[in-house]
Amino acid sequence: MPLTESRSNLKWSEPVQLLQKAQQVISLSDNTSHAVDNLPSNGSFKVGVDLGTAYTVMVVLNAEGEPIVGEYQFTQIVRDGLVVDFIGAVDILRAMKERLEAKLGRTISHAASGYPPGVPQAERAATAHVIEAAGMACQGLIDEPTAANNVLHMQDGVIVDIGGGTTGIAIFENGEVVYTADEATGGTHLSLVIAGANDISFEEAEALKKNPVEQSRLFPIVRPVMEKMGTIVEKHIRGSSARSIILVGGTPLFPGISEVVSEITNLPTRVPNNPLFITPLGIAMHDRMN
Ligand SMILES: Nc1ncnc2c1ncn2[C@@H]1O[C@H](COP(=O)(O)OP(=O)(O)OP(=O)(O)O)[C@@H](O)[C@H]1O
Ligand SMILES: [Mg+2]
Repeated sequence: MPLTESRSNLKWSEPVQLLQKAQQVISLSDNTSHAVDNLPSNGSFKVGVDLGTAYTVMVVLNAEGEPIVGEYQFTQIVRDGLVVDFIGAVDILRAMKERLEAKLGRTISHAASGYPPGVPQAERAATAHVIEAAGMACQGLIDEPTAANNVLHMQDGVIVDIGGGTTGIAIFENGEVVYTADEATGGTHLSLVIAGANDISFEEAEALKKNPVEQSRLFPIVRPVMEKMGTIVEKHIRGSSARSIILVGGTPLFPGISEVVSEITNLPTRVPNNPLFITPLGIAMHDRMN
């Protein structure tokens, strides 16, 4: 049985409306109507760029910190947290920036970016170089689980960002990050076992995995990969004072993962609603307002 604990004991708050708004703004990317209303013509804004293994996300926040426009796109420009296609990344980001500028009616000249914890300093600079080459001043770089905690405000516990290719782990004490790690496992591995078990292509497996109708049938196939993710988390948090876990990123959208991680770590584990855009939102919060 998964452990449960009341929300008040978990000492974090799920900003439900903010996450809903981010989901709406980023995934309905051609809906421009309320964007322009929310940004005064002279208003300052913050911009976040998340170059992921699976998705590249760009989001703009107004002076009140509300997401007003955003875009996401399936990309293959990053592997294991490292930028492997610099030119491709710059092209994609420049095109995203131009589309968002058209929606905003404003030039986007700055952004913050994120990196998985454990990525060496030189590779963090590569992320900043992509932003700069796409025509924006990179005003901040933040590790991804700390970015997620800009949104979740966890005091004592663990944030695990399970993306396409990486699992980032950060332990927080009194709201401060005290330990980070990341491992090269993620949603891609779920898709690979689904492809193998069903004798289908990776792309077909990706689509099947995200289909809510198929997910309960696929659960036994992907469960061992989730158990491995749980074991990785357990190894990193062993001996720490962490009492609860929050899962963010795209992979926690697969139902059942929180129960598996909870069983293995013996800690209450939750997935916020709309976990996919928490990290990009927290990256944008790290940008300077101008
Ligand atoms: N509804 C869904 N059900 C299951 N998995 C999903 C769903 N939607 C997205 N995913 C998976 O989430 C992963 C992408 O998540 P995310 O955007 O957090 O990763 P990323 O930031 O691009 O990668 P990384 O952080 O590893 O560099 C992909 O593996 C994708 O298949
Ligand atoms: Mg990510």
